[in-house]
Amino acid sequence: MTKDIKHVHGNTKIKLAKFLSKKFASVLFIIFKIFFPKAKSSSNEILISRATYAPWKIDHKFMSIFNRVNNLTLLDYPRLYTFYFLSKQIKKLKGDILDIGCMKGGVGILLSFMNTNGRVMLFDTFEGFLDKENLHKNNIFKFEGLDELKKTIRGYKLKNTFVYKKYFPNEVNNLRIRKIKLCHIDVNTYVSTKRTFYYVKNKIVRNGIIIFDDYGVHGVEKVTNFVNRLIKKEKENFVFIQNYFGQCILLKK
Ligand SMILES: C[S@@+](CC[C@H](N)C(=O)[O-])C[C@H]1O[C@@H](n2cnc3c(N)ncnc32)[C@H](O)[C@@H]1O
Repeated sequence: MTKDIKHVHGNTKIKLAKFLSKKFASVLFIIFKIFFPKAKSSSNEILISRATYAPWKIDHKFMSIFNRVNNLTLLDYPRLYTFYFLSKQIKKLKGDILDIGCMKGGVGILLSFMNTNGRVMLFDTFEGFLDKENLHKNNIFKFEGLDELKKTIRGYKLKNTFVYKKYFPNEVNNLRIRKIKLCHIDVNTYVSTKRTFYYVKNKIVRNGIIIFDDYGVHGVEKVTNFVNRLIKKEKENFVFIQNYFGQCILLKK
């Protein structure tokens, strides 16, 4: 019989912590299934990490940006921090930043606060989903405040930051987008996600980043399945990182 390895915090404490987190996760999943009965138990669970580090709590610069964009996005701390953390590292890279499906603009504005080189371009139909799929009907996530968003950007004095009312990637040829260094794709439907990816794929620079939102989120399985197919098809072109916070991050090789 192999002997137990000693844990730094003591084996009893760790066993208890593991036991409790497993139980909490199972109970939470039962409650989750009551609200979302169609979620497959075979491929889903409530994720509780062993890590507890929450860097956003002590990062004052992030918190000051967060306070300005919090009401302008559906994204949570970890997903926004991912943008903050990554955009810091590609500040000087040449190319444009695209936030596609920007809705109220919070992510694009955060990216603009961090950027020092190239345009930040925010796109939305500002009419909701034009390719209505299952749960994504036209009246869902419909934000019609284009002028309001333009005013917010002016108010924050963000230079080189532009908002476009477009059904992406239609009608964007005249915008002269040649090189993209970071792109956020948050358009929810299969058709728009796929068309957007293939537009961006041809323009993303080496070491550039594409971030898919809704990867692994219940109700948006078509995005997860599309990205899962890309993981096989595009492995020569990208490194794929699943961050388990509802995003899949692609790094251009
Ligand atoms: C879930 S919302 C985006 C949330 C937003 N990124 C945030 O940070 O809160 C999805 C948005 O995608 C937009 N959308 C869907 N398909 C689109 C397309 N092909 N082109 C531009 N916007 C699109 C919708 O109008 C909607 O505002």
